[in-house]
Amino acid sequence: MKQNRILLIIGGGIAAYKCLDLVRRLREQGVSVRAVMTRAAAEFVTPLSVGALTNDRVFTDLFDLNDEREIGHIYLSREADLVIVAPATADLLAKMAGGHADDLASTILMATDKPVLVAPAMNPRMWLHPATQRNVKQLKNDGIHFVGPNVGEMAERDEAGPGRLAEVPEIIAAAEPHLANSPIARSVTPLHAKRPLTGRHVLVTSGPTHEPIDPVRYIANRSSGKQGHAIAQAAFALGARVTLVTGPVTLPDPEGIKTVHVETAQQMLEAVRRGLPADITVFAAAVADWRSATTSRQKIKKTGDRPVIDLVENPDILATVANLEAERPQHVIGFAAETHDVIAYAKKKLLAKGADWIVANDVSSTTRVLGGDNNAVHVVTPESVESWPQMSKDEVAERLMLRAAEHLRRTTAAAE
Ligand code: CTP
Repeated sequence: MKQNRILLIIGGGIAAYKCLDLVRRLREQGVSVRAVMTRAAAEFVTPLSVGALTNDRVFTDLFDLNDEREIGHIYLSREADLVIVAPATADLLAKMAGGHADDLASTILMATDKPVLVAPAMNPRMWLHPATQRNVKQLKNDGIHFVGPNVGEMAERDEAGPGRLAEVPEIIAAAEPHLANSPIARSVTPLHAKRPLTGRHVLVTSGPTHEPIDPVRYIANRSSGKQGHAIAQAAFALGARVTLVTGPVTLPDPEGIKTVHVETAQQMLEAVRRGLPADITVFAAAVADWRSATTSRQKIKKTGDRPVIDLVENPDILATVANLEAERPQHVIGFAAETHDVIAYAKKKLLAKGADWIVANDVSSTTRVLGGDNNAVHVVTPESVESWPQMSKDEVAERLMLRAAEHLRRTTAAAE
C-alpha cells in the first residue's frame, strides 16, 4: 500500500522543538515526513536534528539551485498528501493570507494543490491582534485547516492566553482525515483531547431574576441571557454534561442541555444546589440583589399615597456555592458587570465572593454589552488579569470554557 506523506513546514518560534516529537510520532505511525524550515525556524531547531528524525534532507532555501535542479519547489509542494505548518507564526500566517512567495516555505504554500493544516503558535497578544485574526479568517475562507492554538501559559513569564501550539496528538488527529492510506490509529488521540470537558459536569446560571412585588410587577436586572446560554452551549460542545439554570429569557432552550427555568433568586439558588455536584460552575446570571419583603397577592392599586416597598437582600448564589464545604465545585467562575473601575471592582469581588475567576465586563451605556452580541471581558484570577479584545459572546464563551478546561486539567493533574 502507498505510504502516507506529509510535508512539514516548520516556522520560527519557541514551539518549533515540538516538531521533533511530531515527526517522531508521525513516523511511528508509518507516515513519511519531509521537512522544510524557514530561516527563523533554524534559530530554534537545527536542520540536522530535524533531518535525523525525518531520515531525509531538510529543505531550507528557495534559491538553493542544486535543490531546484534535483527536486524543485513545485514538486516538493505536491508530492505530499498534506502540508502541515507548525508552528505557524503570525508572520507566516500573514504571508499566507497575503499570497506572498518570497522564500521556500511561502512559495510551497502558494504552489501546493494539497490540503494545508496550520498549527499556530505565538504570543497571545499577537494571536488576538486584529491583523492576525483577519488573516486567520481569510485563510479559513481560503480552505486552510486549523488546529489550535491552545490556551495556556506561554514560554514568556507572566504571559498566558490563546497561543500555545496544539499538542502533538491533537495535530496528528487533525491531520488524520487528510491521509488516505493506512489511517493513523485513532488511539493516539483520546477523545478528551478534542473534547476536553468530556466526563465533566458544568453548571451555568443565566439571565435575570424577577422578584415579584405583586402579580404584575417585579424587580429585575437587565440581562438577555445571551452570554450565559452561550457558555452552556460552549461547555456542551466541548463534551461536558451541562445544567443551565436560567431566569426568564426569550432565548430557546439549548439542544442537549438540561435547562431548569426559575423566576426568583431564591429559586435559582435552590435549583443550583439541586444541580450540584459540578466540576465547573459559571455564574453569568444577573441576579436581582434585592427582593420585596412582601409580595402582594393582589395587584397594588394607585390610591394617591406613595407606595413603599420594603426591600430585603437576596442570597448571593455565587458566594454561597464558592463557600460550600463539601460540595464546592473545583472551579467557580463569577461575572462582574460594572460601569466603571471594572478591574478594581472585579478583584474585590473575587476575594469577597470566594470565586476562582471573575469575568468582568464593562456594561456602561457606551459599550452596548447588555442585550448585544459582543462582549469585551477581563478574566481576573488571583494571579493575573487577562484583557480580551472585543469579540462575539459565542467566542467569549468558547474561549472561556477552553481556558477553564485547561485549568481543570492542570489542577486535577497537580492534585493527583
Ligand atoms: N451573583 C449571585 N447572586 C446574587 C448576586 C450576584 O450569584 N445575589 C453573582 C452574579 O451571577 C455574578 C456575580 O455574582 O457572577 C457578580 O454580580 P454583580 O451583580 O456584578 O455584583 P454584586 O455582587 O451584585 O455587587 P455590586 O452590586 O456591588 O456590583
